Amino acid sequence: MSDASNTKSSNPPTQNIQWGGRFTEATDAFVQVFTASVDFDQKMAEQDINGSIAHATMLAQVGVLSEAEKTTIIDGLEAIRQEIRNGEFQWSVALEDVHMNIEAHLTQRIGTTGKKLHTGRSRNDQVATDIRLYLRDAIDAILSELTRLQTGLVELAEREADTIMPGFTHLQTAQPVTFGHHILAWNEMLFRDHERLLDCRKRVNRMPLGSAALAGTTYPIDRTITAKLLGFDGICENSLDGVSDRDFAIEFCAAAALAMTHLSRFSEELVLWASAQFDFVDLPDRFCTGSSIMPQKKNPDVPELVRGKTGRVNGHLISLLTLMKSQCLAYNKDNQEDKEPLFDTVDTLFNCLRAYADMMPALQVKKDNMREAARRGFSTATDLADYLVKKGMPFRDSHEVVGKAVGYGVAQQKDLAEMSLQELKQFSDIISDDVFEVLTLEGSVNARNHLGGTAPDQVRAAAGRARQKLAQRA
Ligand code: ARG
Repeated sequence: MSDASNTKSSNPPTQNIQWGGRFTEATDAFVQVFTASVDFDQKMAEQDINGSIAHATMLAQVGVLSEAEKTTIIDGLEAIRQEIRNGEFQWSVALEDVHMNIEAHLTQRIGTTGKKLHTGRSRNDQVATDIRLYLRDAIDAILSELTRLQTGLVELAEREADTIMPGFTHLQTAQPVTFGHHILAWNEMLFRDHERLLDCRKRVNRMPLGSAALAGTTYPIDRTITAKLLGFDGICENSLDGVSDRDFAIEFCAAAALAMTHLSRFSEELVLWASAQFDFVDLPDRFCTGSSIMPQKKNPDVPELVRGKTGRVNGHLISLLTLMKSQCLAYNKDNQEDKEPLFDTVDTLFNCLRAYADMMPALQVKKDNMREAARRGFSTATDLADYLVKKGMPFRDSHEVVGKAVGYGVAQQKDLAEMSLQELKQFSDIISDDVFEVLTLEGSVNARNHLGGTAPDQVRAAAGRARQKLAQRA
């Protein structure tokens, strides 16, 4: 996300040129700083300029501005856009926010015509419009990082469709699974995150502009013109609602919190897997750091940080919910507090997705260690129970029989597949030498060969479907 953070904050108590008329004294110097938002809302400068250009264009079309005035305004705004992009714009805290900074600067540049831009509009509908434009762009950028990460996951799943690892419940070895299947579980979570963000985008992409301060305006505005120019799918139907609600931002933060929750779960697994105790994966050095004291250390900083950053996103969601709660209609200054949590949520989610999208293709998988871990820990015990059931034993009895065999294995330090037929027959004489097929890891995963199962063939088919879904996004 681009950030024009070149604020030159000077705060002499000055009579505000935008609303000084009614006031008999200048704003207190501290209050001026306290109430200003320019330090953070300058992030929306591009959106503010685009909104103003659309507004001026519409005003000219309905005859409120002349064509010449419109052109002067638009040229002035484009020049300001360049100044901001070049880092030459002097932001002033005395002018409170991005909106008044740009408007005041426009008037300085083009003279009296600049004062006509704000006709039929208020900062209340202006700011609500800017945030929506900003968030719409942010969602699009996030969705494309999400797609990049998902593409990497699908490729990884295809490469590792046959790789066997222990599957866990309660972090205890449960049943063998394929690593590709495990990776596609993450990918499913991300498909839902994508859906949620895309759905949220529909409600973000509605235009408040034209609501003016709260009640609409007396000028013959045509909101459909501005909406079209700005690429909105529709308008906010009610002016009071349009300037006041921030539910679209809350909804985005909720979707972001869930996406971060998913990333934090992946992170937890990567941290575990990269440890000497698991030793399932190697993270490329460029995604890790060392220790200043322990020379042997290679720390999985990126997953750890992503896991940690989930906290701040959850916090932002609560901030915004609390901000909105109990606000009476229509706009209240409270809403100025919406921006920092929202912007930080956008940046955090984007950056975490970017780090993951970069890291995933470089993940090194230690197949032998995964396999060895699956071989230990009696991961095919359920397969033996199912084998007995298929030979006629009721499942509860077979569960009991296999439990005894596992107890024997623990005492003898032998996995089920390492026992002789004679040893196995102690527990049930219906066991015969075809049992070894089901006790192998391959036999176990291949047997789960149905839609959604862990068999390598199913993983390849699921990855193919995922690929198709990703291709449809473009
Ligand atoms: N800086 C304000 C915000 O972020 C802009 C709107 C202010 N409107 C007002 N009437 N004070 O919400």
